[in-house]
Amino acid sequence: MNNIKKVEVMKFNQLGDERGHLVVIEGCKDIPFEISRIFYIYGSDTSVIRGQHANKDSEFVLINVSGKSKVKIDYGNSQEIIELSEPHMGIYIPKMIWKEMYDFSEDSVLLVLSNFKYNSDEYIRDYNEYLSLINEYGGGSKNEDQS
Ligand code: TYD
Repeated sequence: MNNIKKVEVMKFNQLGDERGHLVVIEGCKDIPFEISRIFYIYGSDTSVIRGQHANKDSEFVLINVSGKSKVKIDYGNSQEIIELSEPHMGIYIPKMIWKEMYDFSEDSVLLVLSNFKYNSDEYIRDYNEYLSLINEYGGGSKNEDQS
């Protein structure tokens, strides 16, 4: 049994015309949740690793609205690295997935949407605690059985 949903790379519609691009994201329409929280990360250089946590409740959509970064996704028993490199590209990260954001370009602005307001109690910041929790939870996703 596997109770952990998989990460999804999303491509949003670009409503472009001669004036430039416009990307619209509506909760429960373009992403799988209603948006309760927005934050953004910028000014992190290439040596910085952010994240390094999993969440018991919060889900996220990450979008590099400017520049680039990489996101390491860790299900406990498998990992993948996704590069965010376009303003109309996002990564949906369900709950109970360990994530690390790194390799930020100088112009990186990483926009994050979430379904819950901030609550430090639902953040798992210890990797070993994460591993034991996902074992209780039903095991981490494996790349080959995510579909
Ligand atoms: P942290 O979770 O370490 O950021 P990141 O995951 O991007 O590396 O958060 C840094 C600080 O900001 C920490 O003291 C908690 C606070 N914070 C909030 O108050 N609200 C929020 O929504 C977030 C993401 C962080």
